[in-house]
Amino acid sequence: MTDIRSIVQQMTLEEKAALCTGATTWTTTAIERLGVPELWVSDGPHGLRRVAQAEGLGSESLPATCFPTASCTASSWDRELLGQLGEALAAEALALGVGVVLGPGVNMKRTPVCGRNFEYFSEDPYLAGELAASFIDGIQGKGVGTSLKHYAANNQEYQRMTMNSVVDERTLREIYLPAFEIAVKKAQPWTVMCSYNRINGVYGSEHHRLLTEILKDEWGLEGFVVSDWGAVHDRVAALRGGLDLEMPGPRPRRVQEVVEAVREGALDEAVLDEAVRRILHIVFKAAETPKGAAFDQAAHHALARKMAGEGMVLLKNDGILPLKGVQRIAVIGRAAQEPHFQGGGSSHINPTRVDAPLEELTKLAGGAEITFSEGYPRDDSSRPDLIEAAVAAAQAAEVALLYIALPTYKESEGYDRTDLDLTAQQTALIKAVTAVQPRTVVILNNGSALAMSEWLDGAAAVLEAWMMGQAGGGAIADILFGAVNPSGKLAETFPLKLADTPAFINYPGGHGEVRYGEGLFIGYRYYDMKEQPVLFPFGHGLSYTTFEYGAPRVSAARFRDVDGVTVSVDVTNTGKVAGKEIVQVYVHDRAADLVRPVKELKGFAKVALQPGETRTVTIPLDFRAFAYYHPAYAQWITEDGAFDILVGASAADIRGTVTVELQSTLNLPSRLSRDSTLRDWLADRRGKVVIEPIYQQMQAAIAKLLGEGDMEDGGIGIDPTGFLMDMPLLGMLEFQANTLPVAPEAMIDGMLQQVQAMP
Ligand code: BGC
Repeated sequence: MTDIRSIVQQMTLEEKAALCTGATTWTTTAIERLGVPELWVSDGPHGLRRVAQAEGLGSESLPATCFPTASCTASSWDRELLGQLGEALAAEALALGVGVVLGPGVNMKRTPVCGRNFEYFSEDPYLAGELAASFIDGIQGKGVGTSLKHYAANNQEYQRMTMNSVVDERTLREIYLPAFEIAVKKAQPWTVMCSYNRINGVYGSEHHRLLTEILKDEWGLEGFVVSDWGAVHDRVAALRGGLDLEMPGPRPRRVQEVVEAVREGALDEAVLDEAVRRILHIVFKAAETPKGAAFDQAAHHALARKMAGEGMVLLKNDGILPLKGVQRIAVIGRAAQEPHFQGGGSSHINPTRVDAPLEELTKLAGGAEITFSEGYPRDDSSRPDLIEAAVAAAQAAEVALLYIALPTYKESEGYDRTDLDLTAQQTALIKAVTAVQPRTVVILNNGSALAMSEWLDGAAAVLEAWMMGQAGGGAIADILFGAVNPSGKLAETFPLKLADTPAFINYPGGHGEVRYGEGLFIGYRYYDMKEQPVLFPFGHGLSYTTFEYGAPRVSAARFRDVDGVTVSVDVTNTGKVAGKEIVQVYVHDRAADLVRPVKELKGFAKVALQPGETRTVTIPLDFRAFAYYHPAYAQWITEDGAFDILVGASAADIRGTVTVELQSTLNLPSRLSRDSTLRDWLADRRGKVVIEPIYQQMQAAIAKLLGEGDMEDGGIGIDPTGFLMDMPLLGMLEFQANTLPVAPEAMIDGMLQQVQAMP
């Protein structure tokens, strides 16, 4: 065991400052005289981008397996599979001498146009957090670290380096932080990467509340916080905020600033020591794992194919899939030959090999005659000639397979999309082909939601194949021919159009500021609340078999929040082929002090079933499944009352509901004050007891004051109860001040004292 405390004691101030800034773009500073090695970090998250040289950002990276990107792996809803991905990445990292993989990314998909959505898991924090935790466990279990990123509220690429995300506390706690929180608490990532943007006016790299108070003190992060590359503006302020390692390096000027700040007393050396301790802890931990053993490229390629098959989502199928006994197939679309399997930016991988979808299809097609037409050009220019040729090929075949990939430049780190559309040529191509060939399957490669209303009706089936990784071409063929039964479900809603989306009015912001005005209501939380129709709901995905759900059961109809409750449901494969079902558990709070989403995902499980087989899926729901963050109490709270537990196959396909009664063990102090309204008093557990006896009296008195009787009787047309509800009690008493034995303030204060004295 390395004695880190003793190393810190022996380090000079200059060495400490130097350790807190990278030595190169990808390595930390080694201190030879004290035996401190360097640590290599490399991009992920869905493969290793280990550049050949540590200097510079853009140098060519060493070959590594390009696994499907996060939108695809998240659609598997498979914790175990994410763990396997982690293990494979660890093996590659070790082979390439990497100690920390820069991923996973758990930012919420607030808007479908965010350029990096392909790198992120979901619009739901619970799903993203759970998957991230498994991924981290997978990598770290093999002695390689991770960097959970980008912390926090980094949900657009537009002006990502300067943008100020204005987010209220409750929305942060319930939507933008929980994926980080779950991953930190469950899996302890070795590092967390701060985001470029500002959050409520403070840069992510300097945010004391987020980095120190919440991430380290409250959630207990043991590792270090690293800056996103170039996210540090003021090195000393960043150290004070809780940012341990600045990347990239070298930055001699920054190191000097830290040294001077300590000498001048502007920075407490203890703050620097703590950053040094955290960095050393991880540097030595990473050094423990031997590096250099080659990884099994063929096995990882096979895993990439399996993962792609598990994450692809069959969005629509009129029964044409799986293809059976087809003799003549028209393959149309450039993506069949030039697969689009990853996105642009820092996650761009140099794959060990790439499978062409057309070739893989041919291998499984059992000798069927296959023609190929390009369909659309590489850019977004108009080519009617290509459409004509495709139409002729489709007419001559029994089935048309349209491989459509969003042009690579459309989705990337660094900028956002401006629409949810395919290119005009691609849309025209789909329309023209489906007009002559009703047996057309559309296969899509893209990183986030697309609008499809213009052409969806004409297609017999649609397979969302995502950015499917280097082996995705084979996975498409597996699904088309039924070698793999699709089991992926959407981890993000596909809206009908961009204007329907939750952040539409606030995005992208202006003058350097984006207001998260929709609050908690992103993704299905928004569409549910607005009763807004969507193209494909969150959690949607078809299979070649069918599943029946029994009635959900609970371990207790009435339970204490701290004990939680367990929900079970029997799921049966009622079709003819083996398949996997993703069972989703949502919770609906029937009444709360603050507005809550209609329902929220709080549990899920993926279950494999043979035809006719039934299995019981059991999902535990804990305190947090029922709690919400109350800004007035500055904590997660539960309230007594009824909750519906909804068990379903998607957010829009609830198969059964069971109602439970929660008993809160929180003895929250009353928040009643002189300003509280009658409604507040009646809603407060203790206040109600005090107010009820005098409530009737007050009602009568006010009715008298406002004019007795209703409108017909010559009153002023009000319902006294409704009118009174939202008046402050003090104001009401003021009206009767002359008839009261004491001043209204004294009376209220007396009542407040009574409330406070109650248990
Ligand atoms: C990205 C990070 C990435 C880093 C290093 C940044 O621009 O935002 O996700 O890990 O570069 O390449």
